Amino acid sequence: MADPLAAKGFDTRAVHAGGGPDKATGARAVPIYQTTSYVFESADQAAKLFNLEEFGQIYSRITNPTVAALETRLASLEGGVGATAAASGHAAQFLALLPLLKSGDSFLASKALYGGSITQFGQSFARLGWQAIFVDPADPEDFRRALTPSCRAIFIESLANPGGIVTDIEAIAKLAHDADIPLVVDNTLATPYLCRPGDWGADLVVHSTTKFLGGHGNSIGGAVIDTGKFDWSRIAALGEPSPAYHDLNFAKTFGKLAFTVYGHAVGLRDFGAAMAPFNAFLTLTGVETLALRMARHCENALAVAQHLEKHPKVAWVSYAGLASSPHRALAQKYLPQGAGAVFTFSLKGGYAAGIKLVESCRLFSHLANIGDTRSLIIHPASTTHRQLSDADRAAAGAGADVVRLSVGIETIGDIIADLDQALAGT
Ligand SMILES: Cc1ncc(COP(=O)(O)O)c(C=O)c1O
Repeated sequence: MADPLAAKGFDTRAVHAGGGPDKATGARAVPIYQTTSYVFESADQAAKLFNLEEFGQIYSRITNPTVAALETRLASLEGGVGATAAASGHAAQFLALLPLLKSGDSFLASKALYGGSITQFGQSFARLGWQAIFVDPADPEDFRRALTPSCRAIFIESLANPGGIVTDIEAIAKLAHDADIPLVVDNTLATPYLCRPGDWGADLVVHSTTKFLGGHGNSIGGAVIDTGKFDWSRIAALGEPSPAYHDLNFAKTFGKLAFTVYGHAVGLRDFGAAMAPFNAFLTLTGVETLALRMARHCENALAVAQHLEKHPKVAWVSYAGLASSPHRALAQKYLPQGAGAVFTFSLKGGYAAGIKLVESCRLFSHLANIGDTRSLIIHPASTTHRQLSDADRAAAGAGADVVRLSVGIETIGDIIADLDQALAGT
């Protein structure tokens, strides 16, 4: 379905896409449709809805109007044709890969991913028979070398959590398409405000909306967005008859919407990881100020990174916005408006100093999240990346001496003063 706001600016779409006055009441804010189910107009209409012959609401595990408003907004911001919201970012990653992989298939994944994704892929997806082959993203050609005939997708993060690593989306999209498989990009840290992976060839974009999209640290959620570039008729689950729907062929019946309809009609219906309407409402509200928040997040993060780089107790800072970063050139290409607000640095005092620092901060909150308005700090090796081996932690940029910051939108002088007083005690 063409985006009716496609010609409008990003900031306008962030406020208006999917969010017109409510047809039933005229309510201007998107109402929270807190209902499990929807009364059918007739038995005939119910049958049509169940057969996917008519779009409409049946049950909120599959679709919900508040969640649909968020899906429309996210699809618009990513320049996509459709979106499926999910209960969390991890649920969205599952929904993205579900139609692409069957037991015995494999997919390539960047080694520089959020630690939880490495565990999800390497441990839990392996139990489903989906084998993740991890590749160092520094040289895109390594992905080509790692491809095998059983590879069904490539999964990368545009801006990796936590290391300030920028991935060469365009080069990896090209080699994915040479192999006739889709590229899935986790765009959580960049958000569509800083980078639109679809513009560089990505086929699917996934988000943990828990982070900058929601933006206020109050709702877990996720989404997968179809950028509309991949021909889904070439994927068995979408291009062959589906026994679950009387042999309906998703690609033939729904065309550009095949992936998104499958995400709801099969992915959410059968696995149940739906986003709650209240979380969709809070996330919609957060997205309205995305542009304003991201600009401030990036401005503050750059100032903090520059300050830390000069600090005598700091060994190195890995922020792609710094002139010294090896990812500077990729950041200028993919993130021209700023390199995000999550980055790592290392303390000369190592592990012990890292622990002391996180415990001494007063304005920064020591917790396992990123992307709040508030400044956040964590020591990944002892928390988010704890499940990984030392080698995998190092590959993900989360070694024992590393501290991760998610720089908030508070007054910059207060953010730096808090880090300075905490560093003084390390
Ligand atoms: C880059 C990235 N992707 C995915 C996830 C998983 O998202 P969620 O916690 O919403 O399941 C996270 C969580 O930290 C993340 O940072």
